[in-house]
Amino acid sequence: MYKKQGGWVYQKWQDFVNVCILQIHLEYVIMTKIIAVANQKGGVGKTTSSVNMAASLAVMKRKVLIVDMDPQGNATTGVGLNKHSPPVLLSDVLLGDANVEDALQTIPNTNIMALGGGPDLTIAELEMMQMAEREYRLHKALASIKDNFDYILIDCPPSLNMLTVNALVAANGVLIPMQCEYYALEGLSALVGSIETIRQNSNPKLEIMGLLRTMYDPRSNLAKDVSRQLSEYFGEKLYNTSIPRNIRLAEAPSHGLPVLMYDKRSHGALAYLALAAEMIRKEASREAA
Ligand SMILES: Nc1ncnc2c1ncn2[C@@H]1O[C@H](COP(=O)(O)OP(=O)(O)O)[C@@H](O)[C@H]1O
Ligand SMILES: [Mg+2]
Repeated sequence: MYKKQGGWVYQKWQDFVNVCILQIHLEYVIMTKIIAVANQKGGVGKTTSSVNMAASLAVMKRKVLIVDMDPQGNATTGVGLNKHSPPVLLSDVLLGDANVEDALQTIPNTNIMALGGGPDLTIAELEMMQMAEREYRLHKALASIKDNFDYILIDCPPSLNMLTVNALVAANGVLIPMQCEYYALEGLSALVGSIETIRQNSNPKLEIMGLLRTMYDPRSNLAKDVSRQLSEYFGEKLYNTSIPRNIRLAEAPSHGLPVLMYDKRSHGALAYLALAAEMIRKEASREAA
């Protein structure tokens, strides 16, 4: 009898442990990847990467949300949305004056959702500075909707301001697009330093997800040199996929379209598809490890 009861207790204990393991596993596997696309340098391809990664992940059947945290609103107009008169301003959501659900928009002819940004974000940034827990505003805004998505891509402004800090606090990964130029590495150390500070103080989940070489010319000796240095310093965090300079990528935003919908056979479209595949592959092998 005692033995029987002991066996029963043992079995229940095993079940409990198994359920815990399964839950931890599920939590990890289904955790939404929230990616801040950040680099305080302007013109390095943050917006182009946010928009086209969103489109590439969406054709791979991932549920995607793109959040435009740049007052220039280029990611918003780049997908055919209006940055001046959205239904609800993202700034109002960040300031706690509106519900995030009401600010969600669907990008025309896709199943990608967006929180469009625009000039209102400049005022929001100033007002946020006076608020308590100002660096957690985006994190809180996304809390009720994040589980509806596999990927959330946050397009950051070209500075390490409070909007970027909000993106880094809300994110669990940072994608750093960069051009392989002489000064690129100098700027990187400031960004890596900020990521480290935020990781220690506000967001222990934050990590550099990958470095992406944009407007890449494999024939240039400088590009090869910078690539070598990046690979030495960042190892496998440097994506194998690089994005070539491609005129279709530059033209697509003026039509309000991701390049996949503008010219799906272009080198730019294929490069972002390859990047999305590499990203998914890397995530899967991390999860399996
Ligand atoms: N791979 C590329 N090939 C050609 N033009 C590009 C490429 N990536 C970005 N661009 C162009 O370079 C400019 C800056 O890119 P953008 O994505 O807006 O940079 P950021 O958001 O970092 O300021 C834009 O005009 C964009 O269309
Ligand atoms: Mg931009």
